[in-house]
Amino acid sequence: MGFPENFLWGGAVAANQCEGGSCEGGRGLANVDLCPAGKDRHDVICGHGKSLGKEAVSIYPSEEAIDFYHHFQEDIRMFGEMGFKVFRLSIAWTRIFPKGDEEEPNEAGLAFYEEVFKECKKYGIKPLVTISHFDCPVYLIEQYGGWRNRKMIDFYLKLCRTLFTRFRDYVVYWLTFNEINMILHAPFMGAGLYFGQGENEEKVKYQAAHHELVASALATRLAHEINGENQVGCMFAAGSVYPFSCNPKDVWEAMTVEQENYFFADVQSRGYYPSYARKRMEKRGVYPEMEPEDEKTLRENPVDFISFSYYNSRCASSLSQEKAEGNLFQSVKNPHLQYSQWGWPIDPLGLRITLNQIYDRYQKPLFIVENGLGALDVLREDGTIEDDYRIDYLREHIRAMKEAVEEDGVELMGYTTWAPIDLISAGTGEMKKRYGFIYVDKQEDNSGTLKRFRKKSFYWYQQVIATNGEKL
Ligand code: BG6
Repeated sequence: MGFPENFLWGGAVAANQCEGGSCEGGRGLANVDLCPAGKDRHDVICGHGKSLGKEAVSIYPSEEAIDFYHHFQEDIRMFGEMGFKVFRLSIAWTRIFPKGDEEEPNEAGLAFYEEVFKECKKYGIKPLVTISHFDCPVYLIEQYGGWRNRKMIDFYLKLCRTLFTRFRDYVVYWLTFNEINMILHAPFMGAGLYFGQGENEEKVKYQAAHHELVASALATRLAHEINGENQVGCMFAAGSVYPFSCNPKDVWEAMTVEQENYFFADVQSRGYYPSYARKRMEKRGVYPEMEPEDEKTLRENPVDFISFSYYNSRCASSLSQEKAEGNLFQSVKNPHLQYSQWGWPIDPLGLRITLNQIYDRYQKPLFIVENGLGALDVLREDGTIEDDYRIDYLREHIRAMKEAVEEDGVELMGYTTWAPIDLISAGTGEMKKRYGFIYVDKQEDNSGTLKRFRKKSFYWYQQVIATNGEKL
């Protein structure tokens, strides 16, 4: 019993949060480059930034990030040392197509990822590639308005074709869009959406979402055509929504919030718009424009597996209650849970509940591609970091995951923690919110040597993998 023998243990990162090298190798400007650290970040990621350029006064953390661009060999060697079976990373779109609408890809960008994949291969690590993790060329935003424009489907498919063909010998696991449901909560970061005054933002978001859903289905088809071994997953920000009380009004509220979240994976996995979504969108006047062939495209090209991030459960109430933070969604504060230093709930049993709910809903293999604890770490003079709080968090979540597999029969392909190495926070742009097993000497004011240090959790995870999750 326990985890299957071929269980994929590993870690997950995103290009814009770790690579840096933002002007190297012919890379073009992307939406993620324009998200500053600090107080303006929230407005910008939500599509309410003042301009589509950089402000002289702000720090843009993705410019250097943790400089994975120049450290990837060292970093992947350490992932190998921990025994990783899989490494989830994303492609910076503008390394491959700097503007987005070029005819030919940029060779330097492709060569960079090829080196990364070769390095993974050296240690027997399989890449799990997110094609777009909060990534959109600024040129496509300026010229076409980002994903609100249907033309984005073609630009995205060109990127997909290039990747599927070039990396055929290295990659079989693909995710089309990271946390596709984030388009509703962080539309500039999620889909390059930038709003004008008085615009019906909800309508734009659902139109853009429809374009991404069609693009995801077409990419799935293309991946299968190019290599029969390819397996394509959807990816959404998950976390069960609990009713605050057993008052039916709270239960109803929780159910509708949950449906809003499931909408994307429902379409990507079942292949059609669920009736609850149709009705509600029609009623609110935000039902997207579709082409006649879209229904068929969605129906014929569902994903092979379901992947998701899980940081915490959420809670909903029909009345106004005290709020809690959590992965760009706010929710009602659950009095039964502990909270992280960033105010995110900690709920390992919620992971087991979430796994059961998703598996019941789709009956397809699941993959947890993000789970972890953002915390303040202290680097001691002797170069050690005692991050027992992170070990506790991960241990309890892995235990819950094991119970879901062993006792509830959930089919789970793998688990990649967010993140194996410290990197820039997507939500806040902070460096001090650390998630890694590897500490990076990079500080909030952009200073630091970029030197890497193994934390206590590094050795702990190494042993978890070596025993296939038996020794926690
Ligand atoms: C997910 C994203 O939303 O959560 C990651 O896919 C992100 O990109 C992670 O980093 C953790 O959130 P944060 O805001 O702590 O970085």
